[in-house]
Amino acid sequence: MRKSILFLPLVFSMNSYATSMEVLHWWTAAGEYESQQVLENSLLDAQIKLRNFAIVGEGGDSAIRVLQMRALSGNPPDAAQIKGPDIGEWTKVGMLEEVESIIDTSSWSKILPQAVRDTISFNGHYMAVPVNIHRVNWLWLNKKIFTELKLSPPATWDDFFDAADKIKAAGYMALAHGGTAWQDSLLFESMALSLLGPEKYKKAFVEHDQSIITSAEMIAVFEKFKRLKPYTAKGMVGKDWFQASTLLSTDKAAMQFMGDWAKGMWNASGKVAMRDYLCVDVPESAGLFSYNIDSFVLFEKHNFSNENKVQSTFAQTLLSPKFQTEFNLAKGSIPVRNDIPMDSFDKCAQKSYADFAKSELVPSFTQNLASTSHVQNIMTKIISNYFNDPNADAAKTVKRLSLALRAVN
Ligand code: GAL
Repeated sequence: MRKSILFLPLVFSMNSYATSMEVLHWWTAAGEYESQQVLENSLLDAQIKLRNFAIVGEGGDSAIRVLQMRALSGNPPDAAQIKGPDIGEWTKVGMLEEVESIIDTSSWSKILPQAVRDTISFNGHYMAVPVNIHRVNWLWLNKKIFTELKLSPPATWDDFFDAADKIKAAGYMALAHGGTAWQDSLLFESMALSLLGPEKYKKAFVEHDQSIITSAEMIAVFEKFKRLKPYTAKGMVGKDWFQASTLLSTDKAAMQFMGDWAKGMWNASGKVAMRDYLCVDVPESAGLFSYNIDSFVLFEKHNFSNENKVQSTFAQTLLSPKFQTEFNLAKGSIPVRNDIPMDSFDKCAQKSYADFAKSELVPSFTQNLASTSHVQNIMTKIISNYFNDPNADAAKTVKRLSLALRAVN
């Protein structure tokens, strides 16, 4: 009896403070779900109930379309997973809060790396709250298959094709690869970065410099990219990245090119970095780091002070050291802050963290960090059509890409 009397006011006071917040994202695969749970629990600790507005699939493309409809109808969520140059597009529409009007951001210039601050800034204002840094140019290896076939991790593309032939001959799938346009393009991006080098990569995919886009070197990249196709499995059309990642973690496939969100997925199924799978740089890309930074924009809530308070707690929570550690452990990424101890992270995250500080950084175009999602969509379709059409011609594809980029710039 005494217990319930003590208990009642507590429930009442929690209810009276508790409030909710709607957040749009596309984190629905296993590792993503675990990290989203960290978000949900961290917000609950701050007495905010997360209303998940989760849209499955297509690496976020469907989520963006749904968000556009909601925004057009004047009913955007409180926050949404928007990243890279899309942050600027949403800012121009005039629907976003400046983050510094919601929380004190004076320490950000010290704790956030320059590349992160540049990504979330528009016209000198922070327009999004960053949560993590993913590395995209990884090659993942199934340790059991590599050990069984006595293969070394491929350091060059010649090593890669050599290993892939041996894996195929032994009856395993060489490359775990899902069948959507952005995944095809991710293969292309990884290869293009290593073959062109960072300067030409940036000229081509950030600046859309026509002299690089139409160069003989670019045609050669497309031709080499096509050599990857026979190592991918038939019957994967429309399959998402995590379905491909499962082929690797269940010892059916030996290699996968994917950002380190794949690690979050394997961790969630009990697989351990360096014991079950290895992380190596995409061949010939050591010292290069193509980054993908996840962030949330905050939609203007017309000065309803309660909603602003919820958004400010949300922003503060995302940047807190505790959240940065727990969330990134689950997600497979590294913290966005430069002052988080990395000892509890696995070897791949520790390598990523060290590499981010010393590598040549380039924004991943397939992950929308180099251009808006509109432009990214056009590019990835052209690249994917080429990859999947046995009769497609590299020179004609480069011409198509060049024309498309002229039209959108
Ligand atoms: C990316 C996102 C990552 C990851 C991936 C697959 O766009 O930035 O956090 O989850 O999609 O869903």
